Amino acid sequence: MNPHPNHIAIIMDGNGRWSKKRLMPRSVGHLMGASNLRSVVKACVQKKVKHVTVFAFSTENWRRPPEEVATLFDLFVRYLKTELTELQSQGIRLRVIGDHSAFTPELQAQINLSERLTAQGTSLDLTVAINYGGRWDILQATRAWQNAHPYESLEQLTEEGLEPYLSTHPLPEPDLLIRTGGESRLSNFLIWQCAYTELYFTDVLWPEFDDQALQAALDWYTQRVRRFGKTDEQIKPHASKKLKAQPSHSGESPSDPVALKVEMNSVTHTGTNAGTHPSTHPISNPSSNPSSKRPLFLK
Ligand code: FPP
Repeated sequence: MNPHPNHIAIIMDGNGRWSKKRLMPRSVGHLMGASNLRSVVKACVQKKVKHVTVFAFSTENWRRPPEEVATLFDLFVRYLKTELTELQSQGIRLRVIGDHSAFTPELQAQINLSERLTAQGTSLDLTVAINYGGRWDILQATRAWQNAHPYESLEQLTEEGLEPYLSTHPLPEPDLLIRTGGESRLSNFLIWQCAYTELYFTDVLWPEFDDQALQAALDWYTQRVRRFGKTDEQIKPHASKKLKAQPSHSGESPSDPVALKVEMNSVTHTGTNAGTHPSTHPISNPSSNPSSKRPLFLK
């Protein structure tokens, strides 16, 4: 069983259908969506989830009717303004990722202010993706890497080398991605970062995604077996090796299935996906290696 996820990514889909069902304008659905984001983030703080990254506006959402785009951007400015005190008081650090160049000066200023005033928050990282696309992220990271390494060729670029230039840096990879609203696709959200993420799709519309729905997603996640490219058999001997190395933990023979289970539980309890997840690698997990400042993405 997995411990609860350390990082949850959310595609907040279904605002439009929520309002349509009630014969209301789509803007009401987005307003309710923003209000629900507040509740879900609060619940995540209580559940000790450390990072939440939400998709608020994609690079493709510009294709929506101009009035809806304007409504959404008004809402982003208002949200940043009205939530600032609450974010600060809850110790939430806010970041906005995406291509900011298309934003109005007002939104850019509000983002800078909110990021600066919440920078000391340690209870949860809330990352809001606005004008974000996964392909854009990979492209901008590659360009940024090349600018920082003008004398190196792209042949020298590695996966680990690219990671510090992704807009999500220094966040760890999401453990769980939740998409509400019944669709089963990533829609260009965090496509690099979600290579090994568990994907949870629910028909619940975003404004109705309440604490019970969140708990159902977390419960589902804890049942997933995360192999990261390995086989089941490879995962089990890994636990038994640890057993041999620390016989005093259980005091039982490593071949004893009960002892093995106990040992596996104690191993997996030390951190997100410990034992099998790249983030438990001492280099990639800053909490297990205080000298390491940035988590690396491992294959
Ligand atoms: C998708 O639902 C939702 C969006 C494109 C916008 C998401 C925005 C919010 C949840 C509100 C505000 C967020 C912040 C950060 C203040 P949809 O409109 O495509 O729904 P539909 O598929 O039912 O039409």
